[in-house]
Amino acid sequence: MKKGLLSLVGIASIFILGACGSSSKSGTSSSSGESKTTDAADQWSKIEKAGIIKVGTSADFAPFEFHAMVNGKDQIVGADIDMMNAIGKELGVKVEYVDMDFNAVLASLEQGQVDIAVSGISATDKRKKTFNFSVNYFSPEQLVVVNKANTNKYTTLDSLANKKVGAQKGSIQESIVKDQLPDSQIVSLAKVPNLMVELKQNSIDAAVVESAVAKSYVAQNDDLAIADAKLETSEGDAYAIALPKGSTKLTEKIDTILKKMIEDGTIKEYVQKNTDLANENASK
Ligand code: ARG
Repeated sequence: MKKGLLSLVGIASIFILGACGSSSKSGTSSSSGESKTTDAADQWSKIEKAGIIKVGTSADFAPFEFHAMVNGKDQIVGADIDMMNAIGKELGVKVEYVDMDFNAVLASLEQGQVDIAVSGISATDKRKKTFNFSVNYFSPEQLVVVNKANTNKYTTLDSLANKKVGAQKGSIQESIVKDQLPDSQIVSLAKVPNLMVELKQNSIDAAVVESAVAKSYVAQNDDLAIADAKLETSEGDAYAIALPKGSTKLTEKIDTILKKMIEDGTIKEYVQKNTDLANENASK
């Protein structure tokens, strides 16, 4: 019912989070005679000058980005958000989140409506032709989520032949259904929670969702389960931050910060913390 045909630029809301320290670290950032055309190459100086980085995301993806009531207020939270707030702090800029359907996230990055995109985005070879990507920060598995009552029915991929299998619109899960479940009927929906609702109502038979996310929604819904049917995972499934093609400086800056957070276990901690938060938030 709420398949919300939000238009491609269906931007639902803007959240500003993450205070900045001093807006620019060196006092030498003002150069005169700037032209309006901002190449990707000097994207960083544009952001530094503005003191703010605009981040495209689709907050329907617990534990990476989702809406939760925090101190009585609806906020976008998640592991990606914690990660990005930490990056913003290191960069010395404020972080503004622009929430939209996943299907619009990469398009709005391409159109320059946001500076970068952080949304559990898989850095596939195909996407790498259009965008820069940071280092990978999380490697998901692909899982099949079903109504708990059907767990025994869907133990193999073959058992899903001629069944309706859901995937999020614009996600790699659409290709996974087409490639690995060619005999199933794909149902593409804008938001991950919509897939869960359809599963509960038995209007679809299964949905392909990535591991941490699938587990989070299953933990929140007693009548859903992970099926035994096994999908293949590939290297291009791993999550990375998407940036405009050619934004070398910004990509390097983000990589340096991100690598540290991966190595010292910060990202893992963020995923765990937000998995717990999503579960607490669901029990209401
Ligand atoms: N990793 C998948 C992809 O890049 C799905 C990401 C969906 N993200 C979201 N926030 N809904 O296609």
